[in-house]
Amino acid sequence: MLKTLTLSAAAGALALSGAAFAQTDHGAETYPFALPDLPYATDALEPVIDNETMEIHHGRHHNAYVNNLNGEVEGDEDLEGLTLRELIENASERSDAIRNNGGGHWNHAFFWESMTAPGTGGEPSEDFASAIDDAFGSMDEFKSEFESAGAGQFGSGWAWLIVDENGDLAVTSTPNQDNPLMDVADEQGTPILGNDVWEHAYYIGYRNARGEYLSAWWDVVDWNVASERYAAATMQD
Ligand SMILES: [Fe+2]
Repeated sequence: MLKTLTLSAAAGALALSGAAFAQTDHGAETYPFALPDLPYATDALEPVIDNETMEIHHGRHHNAYVNNLNGEVEGDEDLEGLTLRELIENASERSDAIRNNGGGHWNHAFFWESMTAPGTGGEPSEDFASAIDDAFGSMDEFKSEFESAGAGQFGSGWAWLIVDENGDLAVTSTPNQDNPLMDVADEQGTPILGNDVWEHAYYIGYRNARGEYLSAWWDVVDWNVASERYAAATMQD
């Protein structure tokens, strides 16, 4: 039954005018959910993130979230009609399994597209860069706050840069596979960047040194993608 997963991979492509990168709105995807292909080879992020980590992280961890989510939704006519975003944004009304696996699927699909080969991520757009300066004082101070959010997230979780409900940039973190789209999040908003601070994201390359992973991660951030997301998030406000 789950062999049909790849058929819905095209759901929700959102092409932004003038952009070289076609963002995917993974929240628009509906059951049966599918593991998206990585937008690069598994060794493309080396030396920041090693090939083995990427193979296991995408092929096993993310795949498990997708399969588990499909297992939870299958046979429930109400849930089968909902988009991924609809499933997760009302997380307080869902089972833990939907919350964790739905969040896991959305978060990882978003994460892969947040990254690119070292040295190819470009620079933040003018608007995005000036919003970072306004919110945090400087790019360095933003990075420091984001790294602190990731390092300070007890146990497993995510560090986020979001556009909050006032249209301002903010840094936050979430436990487990929660994210700022969910009603259960302490600080809600539209994610612009997210970094996975589960040990499975960095343990092979960095062992327990989460801080080193967080500071190295900037080398693979795709600032072009983040800038497109920022533009889309602030256009809607
Ligand atoms: Fe992960």
